[in-house]
Amino acid sequence: MALVNENFLRLPGSYLFAEIAQRVSAYRSAHPDRPVISLGIGDVTRPLAPAVIKALQDATLEMASEKTMRGYAPYYGYDFLIEAIVKNDFHARRIPIDAGEVFVSDGAKSDTGNIGDILGAGNTVAVTDPVYPVYVDTSVIAGRAGTLTDGQWSGIEYLPCTAENGFVPELPKKHADVVYLCYPNNPTGTTLTRKELKKWVDYAVENRVLLLYDAAYEAFITEKDVPHSIFEIEGATKVAIEFRSFSKTAGFTGVRCGYTVIPHELKAYANDGSEVSPNELWKRRQSTKFNGTAYIVQRAAEAVYSSEGKQQIRETIDFYMENAKIIRTGLEKAGMKAFGGVNAPYIWLQTPDGKSSWEYFDYLLNELQIVTTPGSGFGKSGEGFVRLTAFGKREETVEAVERIVRSA
Ligand code: MLT
Repeated sequence: MALVNENFLRLPGSYLFAEIAQRVSAYRSAHPDRPVISLGIGDVTRPLAPAVIKALQDATLEMASEKTMRGYAPYYGYDFLIEAIVKNDFHARRIPIDAGEVFVSDGAKSDTGNIGDILGAGNTVAVTDPVYPVYVDTSVIAGRAGTLTDGQWSGIEYLPCTAENGFVPELPKKHADVVYLCYPNNPTGTTLTRKELKKWVDYAVENRVLLLYDAAYEAFITEKDVPHSIFEIEGATKVAIEFRSFSKTAGFTGVRCGYTVIPHELKAYANDGSEVSPNELWKRRQSTKFNGTAYIVQRAAEAVYSSEGKQQIRETIDFYMENAKIIRTGLEKAGMKAFGGVNAPYIWLQTPDGKSSWEYFDYLLNELQIVTTPGSGFGKSGEGFVRLTAFGKREETVEAVERIVRSA
């Protein structure tokens, strides 16, 4: 008799974005005559950059010849991509990360979910609230979350990020071993300044806390004082793992590529208190469970760092950030309270008239045919908000804002 991992049975309902997709699909079937505008899941709509397409085509042709075809990719990524990452994302910002600290993968969602494999079940986890659901759900699956009461897990410490505290979380009051941070933040679209992030790094150094830093949206930063990498902060290589993604930066949501940086200096601990290198453990984990990211995909990611690639990708990011501005300023002009959207492709909108997140989500879908993401799906402190993404098509984004404003 095969027993299941009962932690899966503890997870409530379905994964947030699966639940939304199901509601939207039901609406579409019932109302085929009413086209829906999707500003829900953060999925890109602009085509891949020409430089990326060319690299994909060239690499595909290489696969057509016996001389140049490639089989299994290296477990941790091809040198050509790792070198481009190190040079452009770190050395260009004077961050001394080396090639042996970078692990290429199929995306940050997988890595932020899988990183728990190398962490002990007894760790106490802290998360900002609202939070990207992958961190919490995978902590539940690993048996690190305790029991669910009133929407929160007993074994997880929640750090509220609200309009009142400017969406800046306080340091954990209780003991924590592992803290997930995501900046620029999904879902609120807000950021931490260098000074605020330093507070976290200092706290982690003092208390031997591991920071799991999701920087999937760093390419959308426009303000100077916002760090692109936690490793810009002194001491961070001793306490942090950073996750990066090509999904939003370069439109790879359907191509799949990301990477994780685990510094050699970072230490975690065995039960007897001896030091262990997470870098070494992650190597072991990846070589056991992962067979590398496809060659053609890694060539495509490499093209993101070519001079044409950089320029083309910048134009796309600017396009999305113009969408963000249209959404934020449009909603604010109508007297609504909207946050984020300056250094991130998400706008965090306070629901009008004290509506709950799901009430407002349903209203927007049923009455205005606009899909958003209900804030409460990201945690208790997300109640009373919905998230809008800036990754939509321009005409649809403008139209959606007009509909919301007209109805406000
Ligand atoms: C989001 O909408 O939060 C993201 O697209 C989901 C993801 O990256 O998995």
